[in-house]
Amino acid sequence: MRLTTPPLLLLSTLGTQTFAFLNPDTEQHPLAHHQHDNVLNGLDRVASDDDVPSYRVPLLSLHRALVDVPSISGTENDAAFLLGQALTELNYTVSLQPLPSTSTTENPNPQPRYNVLAWPGRDARRTLHNRTLITSHIDVVPPYLPYALDHTPIPPSHPVNFTTLPATTLVSGRGSVDAKASVAAQITATTLLLTSNTIPPESIVLLYVVGEETSGDGMKHFSQTLTTGHPPSDDAPANPTPQFHAAVFGEPTDNRLACGHKGITTGTLTATGRAGHSGYPWLGRSATAGLVHALEALLAADLGSSERYGNTTVNVGVLEGGVAANVIAAEASARLAVRIAVGERRTGRGVVEGRMRDVLAGVEGGEGLGLELTGGYGPVECRCEVEGFETMVANYGTDVPNLEGEHVSYLYGPGSILVEHGDDEGLTIGDLEESVEGYKRLIKYAVEAS
Ligand SMILES: *[C@@H]1O[C@H](CO)[C@@H](O)[C@H](O)[C@H]1NC(C)=O
Ligand SMILES: *[C@@H]1O[C@H](CO)[C@@H](O)[C@H](O)[C@H]1NC(C)=O
Ligand SMILES: *[C@@H]1O[C@H](CO)[C@@H](O)[C@H](O)[C@H]1NC(C)=O
Ligand SMILES: *[C@@H]1O[C@H](CO)[C@@H](O)[C@H](O)[C@H]1NC(C)=O
Repeated sequence: MRLTTPPLLLLSTLGTQTFAFLNPDTEQHPLAHHQHDNVLNGLDRVASDDDVPSYRVPLLSLHRALVDVPSISGTENDAAFLLGQALTELNYTVSLQPLPSTSTTENPNPQPRYNVLAWPGRDARRTLHNRTLITSHIDVVPPYLPYALDHTPIPPSHPVNFTTLPATTLVSGRGSVDAKASVAAQITATTLLLTSNTIPPESIVLLYVVGEETSGDGMKHFSQTLTTGHPPSDDAPANPTPQFHAAVFGEPTDNRLACGHKGITTGTLTATGRAGHSGYPWLGRSATAGLVHALEALLAADLGSSERYGNTTVNVGVLEGGVAANVIAAEASARLAVRIAVGERRTGRGVVEGRMRDVLAGVEGGEGLGLELTGGYGPVECRCEVEGFETMVANYGTDVPNLEGEHVSYLYGPGSILVEHGDDEGLTIGDLEESVEGYKRLIKYAVEAS
């Protein structure tokens, strides 16, 4: 199946000049700001000139446009069209890769969903082989939170003169960190590297996927099409399975380069007992008591640790069991998320499952216990030996393991992991701009490193 680009929606809030880069005529003329002082009460402190990089307005305009459009996982198509439009205006060749429709009985007519791919240049050859993939995701977690500057919500139609704002201004809203900050900063950095001829256009491809916050289905689908020979690309038959040179993933790392992140597996621990009158516990067997003992043992156990990733940890997210206070419980269950710190991406999950089963086998009265783990993966390694970057290790999951292949992975992005899913999700203008500088160095390094 050859994928074509559907017509892109023209969004009136996104004038062409919004995305003009390095053009002295337009960069001094961002969106007009008639009622600027009314809306941004207290925000009219004037930034000193050397605070304001030349890409401030296109960067913040793109970031704002992305945050304004709701894109909770499963409903990303407006965001995909908007991003496709913005990239087209920046002279990228854009393809939207549709995901297979997943209609269910509750949702018989789901929205179409698209991954967004972009190649530098108009009518560029859409090859993937040997390019460095620059990627992040456009979906966000619920609920929608409006775009705001220093906690003042800014209606989508309201103009803002970003050049007047100090770098300490807090930009917030759902997705403002995770991961629309990475999306806007990556596109800005890549475009600057291209217009300054620092990297050749054929060295890069951009990919913005859906579904990262839930199942990773956007990246998984893209990855799968690479091996089935149906990616949205023009790769020659000589390269039936395109192999990326490297992949730069954008997720909030506080502008530090991640050396990797823990693996994860999720599942359910069940306990079955025998119901009976609570006054005669020896006549039955309590599933809830059995489950509590088993969980205690799992939480106390050493499930594996490593210097890089620390301890494997178990989160008991949901507990269920029993029918009434005065009845011995016949059934109980716990839903678990296990963050894996040992082994490698392909082996770590098996190591931890083995240790969990050993622990459960040693639990007194553990005969009614059952452990069922769904998929998952061990720790994911990323390259972090790049000069000029602070490093970190993340405890959250990403799309890095969802892209199969032998490429080197990098993980970097603006904003703190500690706020990303909260009501106060946001970052400063200075953090966002610092990440453009970071991405410029990192992308150049990734393209040139062997
Ligand atoms: C935005 O503010 C700057 C600095 O005060 C000013 O030079 C520029 O003309 C303003 N832009 C618009 C479109 O009003
Ligand atoms: C896009 O390409 C056109 C024609 O080559 C050029 O005039 C325009 O400046 C380019 N725009 C950007 C944002 O690079
Ligand atoms: C890891 O677990 C060990 C015990 O197994 C404990 O002593 C140590 O404090 C834990 N480390 C962290 C970072 O929680
Ligand atoms: C792959 O890309 C790199 C730059 O990204 C380039 O130096 C190299 O020559 C390319 N290799 C092939 C086989 O095209």
